[in-house]
Amino acid sequence: MSYLNIYQKSLEQPEIFWREQAEKIKWYEFPEKILSQDEQGFYRWFSGGKLNTSYLALDVHIEEGRGAQLAMIYDSPSTNSLEKYTFLELRDEVAKFAGGLKNLGVEKGDRVIIYMPMVPEAVIAMLACARLGAVHSVVFGGFAPNELAVRIDDAKPKVLLTASCGIEFTRVIEYKPLVDHALEMAKFPPQNTVILQRPQILAKMKSGQDHDWKELLKIADPAEPVNLYSTDPLYILYTSGTTGLPKGVVRDNGGHAVALKYSMKAVYNTDPGDVFWAGSDIGWVVGHSYIVYAPLIHGCTTILYEGKPVRTPDAGAFWRIIAEHKVNTFFTAPTAFRAVKKEDPEAKLKKKYDISSLQTLFLAGERLDPPTYEWLKETLSDASRPEVPVIDHWWQTETGWAICSNPMGIEPQLVKNGSPTFPMPGYNVQVLDEKGEKCKPGETGNIAIHLPLPPSCLPTLWNGDERFRESYLSQYPGYYFTGDEGIKDEDGYIFVMGRVDDVINVAGHRLSTGEMEELIAGHPAVAECAVTGIDDELRGQVPVGFVVLKDGTQISQDRMQKELVEIIRNNIGAVACFKRAGIVKRLPKTRSGKILRKTIRKLASEFEIVVPPTIDDPLILEEIREIMKERGIGQYATS
Ligand code: COA
Ligand code: AMP
Repeated sequence: MSYLNIYQKSLEQPEIFWREQAEKIKWYEFPEKILSQDEQGFYRWFSGGKLNTSYLALDVHIEEGRGAQLAMIYDSPSTNSLEKYTFLELRDEVAKFAGGLKNLGVEKGDRVIIYMPMVPEAVIAMLACARLGAVHSVVFGGFAPNELAVRIDDAKPKVLLTASCGIEFTRVIEYKPLVDHALEMAKFPPQNTVILQRPQILAKMKSGQDHDWKELLKIADPAEPVNLYSTDPLYILYTSGTTGLPKGVVRDNGGHAVALKYSMKAVYNTDPGDVFWAGSDIGWVVGHSYIVYAPLIHGCTTILYEGKPVRTPDAGAFWRIIAEHKVNTFFTAPTAFRAVKKEDPEAKLKKKYDISSLQTLFLAGERLDPPTYEWLKETLSDASRPEVPVIDHWWQTETGWAICSNPMGIEPQLVKNGSPTFPMPGYNVQVLDEKGEKCKPGETGNIAIHLPLPPSCLPTLWNGDERFRESYLSQYPGYYFTGDEGIKDEDGYIFVMGRVDDVINVAGHRLSTGEMEELIAGHPAVAECAVTGIDDELRGQVPVGFVVLKDGTQISQDRMQKELVEIIRNNIGAVACFKRAGIVKRLPKTRSGKILRKTIRKLASEFEIVVPPTIDDPLILEEIREIMKERGIGQYATS
C-alpha cells in the first residue's frame, strides 16, 4: 500500500489501523478496547490489555530463538572499553537487577530516579524497572543538583540509582557530591541510593542510605516480568516547559510498545537482527525510544556509545563505530555532525573506514539546517554503491516517536531540503493561524495535531492533568498544540521553523529560557531581565541574557555576566551553555508591556531588522545592539 493510503486509513479508521499494529506485539491479554477516553476525558490506547515492556524487549526474543543474538554493544572510547550482551545475557542481568530493586522494596507503581552516565547498567536499570512495573525517571547526567532535586520532589522516588562518575571527553565528573547535594535540597528524598562504583573514581558511601550496585546484585534472585495494564505508566521523562518546573511527560506501556515497534519498520525500515545506533543520551527521549526500547522490542542490536562526535579521540568516531559494529541505521542530532564538520570539513577521516553497512542516516532534535544536509549528502555519496538517504525527522519528548518523517519503510518520498517530509500515520498535523483556522499552503502558523494523538504520545503529565490541559489542549480545542511554528507547502510537506514559546534547543538539548529568567531575576541587582536563544553555528541556539538593574545599583558588565553565568551553571548545568549577558537601560517592549524577545534574537543575528510597529521606543534597539557589539554577542562574537 502507498504511504498516502496507509496515512488516510490511520486517520479515518484509527481503531482498525492500530489494532493491526497491536497484533504485532505479544500481549499477556489482548486489549478490550483499542481507543477510549478516561475519566478526565483524555484519550487512552489499548485499555484492558496486559503486557510487560521488559518481556517484549528481552524474553520474547529468547523464546523466538534469538537469545544468542547481540542485543547491546557498549562502546566507550571514554573508558577504552567494549562490552557485548546477547539477548539472553541482557535478560539475565536485567532480571537480576530487578531482583535487587525488589529487595529494596521497589514494587509496581513506585518511582525510581536514574541519574547515570552512558553505561550498560543504566539501560539494565531502565529495563529492570519496566520488568517490575516501577516507573523510571531518567535525569540527564549534565543537569545540576537543583534540577535533579526538582525532579525528585515531583516524582517522589523510592530509590535513586547513580554512578560514581561520568566522563566528559577526558574530564571525570564526580556524580556522588552532586547527588548528595540534590538529596539535601529535596523535600522528598528517596530512602535508598544505589551507586555503581566506576574505577575512574570511587564514591564515598553513606551507611544506612547508600548501597553498592554489585553488593546488591550478590544477594538478588532474578525477578520475573510483572503483568501490567497497557495504561500503566512505564516512565516519566521531565522536559523543559516555560517555567522552572519541568513537565513530567508520562509514557504508558501499551501505546509505547505498539508505536515504537511500528516505527522501526515504517519510519526506519529496519528488520530484526539489524544494527541500530542512536547517538544520543539515555537522559533524552531519543535515548529512551531509540537506544533502549524500540531497537530491543524489534529484535535489533542497539549501540550504547559513551563518547562524543569529536575528540574521543577524533572526528572519525562516528565512522569508526559504523564500520566496527556494521551499523545499518544511524540516528543523531544535526549539531553532532556540525561538530564533526567543523573539525574535519572534508571528512578525510571517513576514508579510514568501511561504512558500507550504513543504509540510512536519520537526524532529529532540531531542524536539519540545509548546509549540514548538503554536507552530509556529499560526504556519504559514493559512486560504487546506492546513495545513503539523509532523513530529517521531527518529534518531541511528548510524542516519543516521529510526528513527521520520510516513511522509509512504507514508501520513501522525495526529500525537500529543510523539511521533515510528511506526517507519520496517526498524526493529523495542521498549521493553524491565531484564530484556529487552517493556514493556506506556504503560510506560517502554529503546528497542531488533531486529537486523538497516536499511541505512545503522552496521555497526561505526571501530577499535572490541569497543566497538561492548559499547556497543550487549551490553545486550539480538539487539538494538541506542539509549541512549534511552521508551514505546510502545496505538496503537503511540513517545514518546522522553531518554537513559539520559551523553549530553546541548545546542541539538541531542550531548555527553558523562562526558567533561566526566573533564576536571573533572583540576582539581587536585577530589576528585570530577558533571556532568548540566539543562532549559533555549532549548537543551533545558545541563550543570552539582558538585564536592567535596580535603581541605585552599580555593577560592571563583566561582573554581572560572570555572576549570571555562575547562577545558570549551578542551577541548571553547564549544558545550558549560558555564556553571555549584558546590562541594558531598558528592555524593548510593546506598548502593552510585552518584552520583545524575538526582536532581541533578530538583533543578534541580522544587521538589518524590521522594527516591530508595536514597539514602545525604537531607540532602545540601537542601545542593545551597542551592548551586543561590546560584549561579543551573536554575530558580533570575535571567535
Ligand atoms: N554530564 C556532565 N556534563 C555535561 C554532560 C553530561 N552528560 N553533557 C555536557 N556536559 C557539559 C560539558 O562538559 C560542557 O561543560 P563545560 O562548559 O564545562 O565545558 C557543557 O556541558 C556544554 O556541553 P556541550 O554543549 O555538549 O558542548 P561540548 O563542547 O561538550 O560538546 C558537542 C559539543 C556538539 C560535541 C555535543 O554537544 C554533542 O555531542 N551534541 C549532540 C547532542 C545530542 O546528541 N543530543 C541528543 C538529542 S537527539
Ligand atoms: P525534545 O522534546 O527535546 O525532543 O525537543 C522537541 C523540540 O525540538 C521540537 O518541539 C522542535 O522544536 C525541535 N525539533 C526536534 N526535531 C526537529 C526537527 N527535525 N526539525 C525541527 N525541529 C525539531
